[in-house]
Amino acid sequence: MRVLITGGAGFVGSNLAIMFKENHPDASVVALDNLHRKGSELNVPRLKAKGIGFVMGDVRKREDLDALGDADVLIECSAEPSAFAGFGSSPEYLLDTNLMGAVNCLEYARKRNAEFVFLSSSRVYPIKTINELNYMENDTRFVLDEKQTPRGVSARGFTEELATEGSRTLYGTAKLAAEMLIQEYAEMYGLRSVINRCGLISGPWQMGKVDQGVIALWVARHHYGLPLSYIGFGGSGKQVRDVLHVKDLYTLLEIQLKDVRKHTGEVYNVGGGAERSVSLAELTAICQKYTGRSVPVTSVPETKAGDIRLYITDNSKVTEKTGWTPSASVEQTVRDVAEWVNEHSAQLKNVLTQV
Ligand SMILES: NC(=O)c1ccc[n+]([C@@H]2O[C@H](COP(=O)([O-])OP(=O)(O)OC[C@H]3O[C@@H](n4cnc5c(N)ncnc54)[C@H](O)[C@@H]3O)[C@@H](O)[C@H]2O)c1
Repeated sequence: MRVLITGGAGFVGSNLAIMFKENHPDASVVALDNLHRKGSELNVPRLKAKGIGFVMGDVRKREDLDALGDADVLIECSAEPSAFAGFGSSPEYLLDTNLMGAVNCLEYARKRNAEFVFLSSSRVYPIKTINELNYMENDTRFVLDEKQTPRGVSARGFTEELATEGSRTLYGTAKLAAEMLIQEYAEMYGLRSVINRCGLISGPWQMGKVDQGVIALWVARHHYGLPLSYIGFGGSGKQVRDVLHVKDLYTLLEIQLKDVRKHTGEVYNVGGGAERSVSLAELTAICQKYTGRSVPVTSVPETKAGDIRLYITDNSKVTEKTGWTPSASVEQTVRDVAEWVNEHSAQLKNVLTQV
């Protein structure tokens, strides 16, 4: 088995590469990355120590992919992963990497008859639809009302039936466009593929920053004693996300890779689900517990363009099709991240304290 992981020095890519190699020591695993993300360079020695090949390369350049050997499976983890990319600046890097890069990866897979795994995003769902749902509010979080008008929403979260029409950020649009291309390649060229629309993923080696990787950002700010802000939706920190530990994502991929044909043409919402959801205010309390520190948290009531009040995955479809359910609680994920930051505090300081 030869596995190519694009974006393989990133948070998700490096963790998947290492877990894959640990579970399949005979497999050849190659990680390609242009190290665009600050901190990804710290993952390169981790990859090499596990016998994973690292290639400095760029998915925007077809020749970088063509220079690689063949692979049986391509797991596409490269991206500009921030939903806020392109706001107030050029969308060029985002679109060239997330959309054209995905096209280049698809072409690599088509020519080699490789299986294709794509990490899409919950951000394919439109912002206005989400922010205009019926919510209740308790002391620490917004809560989805059971009564909702759009199809695909209940108190359990969002299913694949939620309509995707409407503005959803350029990040989400590039993901949706890539999903559509994958499905066309499946029909037209028989590409065997998996599309997982992931909610928030976290775990050790996530180089969290203000616009992406909130769990690692929150833990790091507590660890290094730096201030935080609740931004948007009134500034009370009641916005909610569900959290998927990267270990649980790996477990799902292992199941899906056993029979990719079965998943070809499907789209799955994949995330922590309602049981593994957390608001920022609740996250602050958990971070205090696992870092032993409190930091000042200011409040910014105005909501940033592109932000959403709440996202919770309804995993019903993926669970029914694969038997998979996530296992790590939010507390376990935060604890794992806190232990990682603590253990590598000096090495990570420069990356994790960036603004
Ligand atoms: N982390 C999450 O919460 C989350 C949620 C849903 C989907 N995803 C998706 O999962 C994938 C992995 O995300 P992540 O959290 O590991 O992000 P990450 O930023 O840690 O990893 C992405 C990697 O891609 C690399 N990269 C960027 N541009 C590249 C290019 N042009 N050529 C080659 N490599 C390039 C970066 O250097 C980085 O190492 C992305 O597709 C992301 O959109 C992530």
